[in-house]
Amino acid sequence: MKIIKKLCAVALLVAMPAVAIASGAAVHLDTAPVNLQDTASLQRGAKLFTSRCLACHSAVSMRYNRLGDIGMSEEQIKVDLQLPEDVKVGSTMMATMDANSAKLAFGVTPPDLSVISRSRSADWLYGYLRGFHIDSTRPSGWNNTVFPGVAMPHVMADLQGEQELESHEGHGAGKLVLKTPGSLTPVAYDAAVADLTNYLVFMGEPAKMVRYQLGWIVLGFLSLMFLLVYALKKEIWKDIH
Ligand code: HEC
Repeated sequence: MKIIKKLCAVALLVAMPAVAIASGAAVHLDTAPVNLQDTASLQRGAKLFTSRCLACHSAVSMRYNRLGDIGMSEEQIKVDLQLPEDVKVGSTMMATMDANSAKLAFGVTPPDLSVISRSRSADWLYGYLRGFHIDSTRPSGWNNTVFPGVAMPHVMADLQGEQELESHEGHGAGKLVLKTPGSLTPVAYDAAVADLTNYLVFMGEPAKMVRYQLGWIVLGFLSLMFLLVYALKKEIWKDIH
């Protein structure tokens, strides 16, 4: 009997985190249209990332010249991304603001974003970057439906405009409504965030592109070997049959 009780306790402990995760996932997440073959989208994402995010966040596992993998020349990296004079194309992506000042300003240190697409998912990022809404009760004036109580201000509000959360009593989490338009239409803003999400996924695993190419090379090699071996087999057996 004792052993059964123990087993039940263990089963409960194992199931607890699953229950906790399931109950936390109340917000619906749209599927991020990630396409790592689309280098134009990845390049637009890289531009948004360096101009809009590196002020506070770093990406220490990412070197600028790695952007060669998405088709950017050294000249493009320097000019299009407006690299400051003292930053070399071989440098890693450092935040402009130092961690201590950021902590003072926001109360939390903005985390490094190198592998954020692996700790959060692409869908989460796509939802998060479109989920900001004004909230006067927050120190920054902003809140987020995907990350409630977030300390990050909406750094792309000029593009998206200002959303408000319209809550209907007893009807779930409420609906985001665009109150003040930004410089982009909602469709164009979603496309820009898709590019940025695409880039964050690429950055989480830049070697993925190389692996894709390697996969095709390996398949090509195997097909060639098959033809050769097949021809050889025919040659060897032709006198016996
Ligand atoms: C003005 C400073 C600032 C800028 C610019 C900024 N962020 Fe943030 N970001 C923060 C802070 C602070 C946090 C921590 C929020 C918290 O934990 O409450 C954060 C958190 C995040 C998180 C959540 C990380 C996690 O898993 O907890 C993501 C993702 C993120 N930022 C992405 C971005 C992207 C993408 C950009 C560029 C479009 C950007 N941020 C620009 C300050 C900034």
